[in-house]
Amino acid sequence: MNIDVVVLAAGQGSRMKSSLPKVLHPIAGKPMLGHVLDAARNFAGARMHVVIGHGAQHIRDAFGGQDDLSFAIQAEQLGTGHAVLQALPQLGNSDVTLILYGDVPLTQAKTLQALVALVDAKNMGLLTVVMNDATGYGRIVRNAEQQVVAIVEHKDASAAQREIREVNTGIMAVPTARLKQWLPALKNNNAQGEYYLTDIIAMAVADGLCVKTLHPEFAEETNGVNNRLQQAELERWHQAQLSRKLMEQGVTLLDPARIDIRGELICGRDVVIDINAVFEGRVELGDGVYVGPNCVIKNCVIGAGSEIEAYSHLEEATLANDCHVGPYARLRPGADLADKAKVGNFVEIKKSKIGKGSKVNHLSYIGDATLGSDVNVGAGTITCNYDGVNKFKTQIGDNAFIGSNSSLVAPVNIGAYATVGAGSTITKDVGDNNLAVARGKQVQIDHWQRPVKK
Ligand code: UD1
Ligand code: CA
Repeated sequence: MNIDVVVLAAGQGSRMKSSLPKVLHPIAGKPMLGHVLDAARNFAGARMHVVIGHGAQHIRDAFGGQDDLSFAIQAEQLGTGHAVLQALPQLGNSDVTLILYGDVPLTQAKTLQALVALVDAKNMGLLTVVMNDATGYGRIVRNAEQQVVAIVEHKDASAAQREIREVNTGIMAVPTARLKQWLPALKNNNAQGEYYLTDIIAMAVADGLCVKTLHPEFAEETNGVNNRLQQAELERWHQAQLSRKLMEQGVTLLDPARIDIRGELICGRDVVIDINAVFEGRVELGDGVYVGPNCVIKNCVIGAGSEIEAYSHLEEATLANDCHVGPYARLRPGADLADKAKVGNFVEIKKSKIGKGSKVNHLSYIGDATLGSDVNVGAGTITCNYDGVNKFKTQIGDNAFIGSNSSLVAPVNIGAYATVGAGSTITKDVGDNNLAVARGKQVQIDHWQRPVKK
């Protein structure tokens, strides 16, 4: 089936009280409009048309340059029907046009698929929900045979119609040829003086079409976001769905209400995640990985059996198996740990390879370095990799021992089995098996008389 998707995103969203257009506000780290477009992309070959007005340039900047997407401008917001009308010239000879809202971010692809499947030349599809308090929504008016005959907006509804609890979600699927016929015929003679998209329902019935309705699996799928509170509520609902899926896959979450996934989290077997972990981008956790409390992990691959202790921050790092990181460690982009490597508290690693079984356990900065296997880096060691303009590399051979509080001034090579005495400032290469000590010699004065106060 050939499909066009029209996404309404021209409204201001004034209740967000923000300089960012509403549809660019995120749920799970992704703009709401991005969620909508990604759901629509489940229809192979769909063409997407985003109707923009308020904050148009912002939205173009964020979503421009995508082949399957074009924009239609609605300069004045004269109603939902008027909004779709702006995209009409772009619609091709598709069978169906699916209409979505940029501020209704969490509709499941399978819901949209079921809706579109209702449509043919004689039928259109409408997504509805039943609400306890339907105030403000368009009511679904049915005849004695329970067939939909119209949608009446709240402000235009009679007292009896306001009793109806089945409401329009706004999401609908319409035969494109019919949409092209109906939209230009809309009138704005109603309580709000707007061109209502919802008026096409009565037109469809008048033209002998049947309006088939469908409820989403979860009511939250059609919740719109108008303010920060609704955004936060939808975020929590979405996170709860994500944690439920993880637990179904066998992941232990010490508190399913205290984990945030802003991207894709892929877990092996018997992964344990303690409270308040935040995952961003694409994160892979191998079998048996433990993530301690309050860790932030972004775009990382973490091998089986590795443990990340509390308060660690990892970004674009790669860990092989059985590594141990933290507590309070920082792995920056390009940190690459081989099997059984250890990075301890208050250690920062950037763009460096830490070889198999090597340890950087306390208070160190390792940047632009390559460490062989079984290296021991003492507390407070710093690779001096930057002269203010250029970055230089440090190489440390297998089984080298770097004494505490050493400064390794790059570019510099430390050989295999080499030893660096504590407190050294190393500016020249150290050969294999050598000891290098580069610090002031200790001076000792007998019977030293301390100054005394007068
Ligand atoms: C609309 C429906 C109502 C439904 C409700 C669900 C109409 C006439 N009414 O209500 O039946 O129950 O949604 O939330 O369709 N927009 C534009 N341009 C416009 C007007 C709106 O792009 O000129 C966009 C808004 O940015 C928003 C969406 O369309 O994303 C819905 O607009 P909103 O004003 O919230 O909907 P209502 O008309 O109140
Ligand atoms: Ca509304």
